[in-house]
Amino acid sequence: MEKEEITKNPKFKKDSAKKALRIFKYIRPYMWYFVTGMIFLVLSSLLFMGLMGLPGEMANIALGKPKFNLGLSVKDFGWIFLIILILQGVFSYLRTYLFAVVSEKGMADLRIRLYQKIITQPIHFFEERRVGELTSRITTDVEQLQSVFSVTLGEFIRQIVVLIAGIIIIIVWTPKLSMIMLMTFPAIVISAMFFGKYIKQLSRQRQDELAHTNTIVEETFQSFAIVKAFANEWYEVIRYSKSVEKIVSVSLSFAKMRGLFFTFIITILFGGIFFILWQGALLLERHEMEAGDLFSFIMYTGILGGAIASLGTLSTQILTAIGATERILDILECDSELDIQDNASEGEALHVKGNIVYNNISFAYPTRKDLPVLKDINMHIKAGQRIALVGQSGAGKSTLTQLLLKFYKPDSGTITVDDLDINDMNLTHYRNNLAIVPQEVILFGGSIRENISYGKPGASESEIIEAARQSNSLEFIHTFPEGLDTIVGDRGIKLSGGQRQRIAIARALLKNPKILILDEATSSLDAESERLVQEALDVLMVNRTSIIIAHRLATIKDVDWIYVIDNGVIAEQGTHSDLIEIKNGVYASLAKLQFENT
Ligand SMILES: Nc1ncnc2c1ncn2[C@@H]1O[C@H](COP(=O)(O)OP(=O)(O)OP(=O)(O)O)[C@@H](O)[C@H]1O
Ligand SMILES: [Mg+2]
Repeated sequence: MEKEEITKNPKFKKDSAKKALRIFKYIRPYMWYFVTGMIFLVLSSLLFMGLMGLPGEMANIALGKPKFNLGLSVKDFGWIFLIILILQGVFSYLRTYLFAVVSEKGMADLRIRLYQKIITQPIHFFEERRVGELTSRITTDVEQLQSVFSVTLGEFIRQIVVLIAGIIIIIVWTPKLSMIMLMTFPAIVISAMFFGKYIKQLSRQRQDELAHTNTIVEETFQSFAIVKAFANEWYEVIRYSKSVEKIVSVSLSFAKMRGLFFTFIITILFGGIFFILWQGALLLERHEMEAGDLFSFIMYTGILGGAIASLGTLSTQILTAIGATERILDILECDSELDIQDNASEGEALHVKGNIVYNNISFAYPTRKDLPVLKDINMHIKAGQRIALVGQSGAGKSTLTQLLLKFYKPDSGTITVDDLDINDMNLTHYRNNLAIVPQEVILFGGSIRENISYGKPGASESEIIEAARQSNSLEFIHTFPEGLDTIVGDRGIKLSGGQRQRIAIARALLKNPKILILDEATSSLDAESERLVQEALDVLMVNRTSIIIAHRLATIKDVDWIYVIDNGVIAEQGTHSDLIEIKNGVYASLAKLQFENT
């Protein structure tokens, strides 16, 4: 949405170019390479322009009418050509290498920064964007920038140097012809600017369409099981074809514009050249100019024409890259979750006891501000206690735990842990004290070992095995020929729900947190798996403050305190035996339903 607005905004051009310049801040360590590369580039371009004048002057000298009184003979030109060509070679080599340093190292830095920035964004950042879109910031957009720094920008500057030097040379050398020549220049430049504007817009539009198409591919490939279960293959194919067709149509308009651009410039250019040649021949006939001068003039005119033509393409590429740069900067310049209040993981580690207090907490999700999810919640949880949250789906149970994890900030009220406001705690250190076993466990694509040790990077083999044993995972891990090295497939697809949950428990055991959140950790399991998982959970909960979210009341009968959440408020609280006594109470009626049925 915001992109469309920018595209339509007529002021966009200047602002975005200005903004794009800020990217240099991020490649500052390599600025000297860039500047030195530019110096070599300018030198080699100037040398090239000088070289192109030599044949004409050589011809003049051969004809006995030198233009410049340098005392050179035709014989000397062999040496001069040789020296200039060697210098030219050295300059080109250095420039190419220096630019490569900037584009490779600078862009690698940028990629890492971008990744770091994205991964440290708060939860709502990810809720508001698609994975494919974020991925293309790091891949496609950075690649575009990379090609600008390695080639395009250098070429652009070179053509500008060629243009300026070429104009000066022909004005000095052949003033009369040059004046005629310069009359065609403004027309070309103005038309180039006119087209450039349209081309930029189309190029951006095409880029966006492309990103959209890739998003469809990624999302459907990621969720292929859903696509198939709903037999929506054809629906997706149609959606994809439509998106691809849109790219084609935008690309073709883009191509038409580019085509027109070339046609226009070439027509004017060649028209001008033949007209000028004709004028030159007339000057020659009247002996107002030497043959060698005309030769040089033609040479420079050709080069100038080439420069103008390639400036068109180059500026289009640069404009495209400006779009990419803007999108990259949008991400680089937003605050990350960690910057906001803490300095990542600096300072001392934090060891909480696990006394948790919710004081008058009210909250609505940032994406749905109008819908209050929690209203004035108060809870007191003592260190080492097990408490349960029960209530209907959508009541706000998971939300309560997400606030504790500092995924979101409450709109009012405070949450304290050991009497300290969690807002004032270093985010990384604080979260090191918590672990969550979610209902829907998603694993990383690697091995079981990697997934378990995610709870404690660098854990020893014996620690990993102990965690696997305590979580009742060892038995099923042994049934796989590769044991701990079994690859679990994308998101853990090769394991069953219960197995994934036990891996998640092993992970939490390794992390050894003071505060544990179990979000319906046994709800999707059969009796046998539930027993195994429940056993593992009982081990896990020892000596920790545990918050258990459960739909099945049987699993929470023995907890210290139960909060019944209803529509964002605490409707009832107490122990199982207290609550079951409340006549027509929410808990009592839930219990009646569940225990009667089983
Ligand atoms: N990320 C989100 N953005 C906006 N609204 C959300 C978000 N997550 C949950 N909600 C809304 O907040 C309300 C409470 O959701 P929550 O996930 O806390 O319910 P719950 O009690 O955990 O339910 P369940 O038992 O089904 O897991 C719901 O109305 C839900 O639609
Ligand atoms: Mg929930």
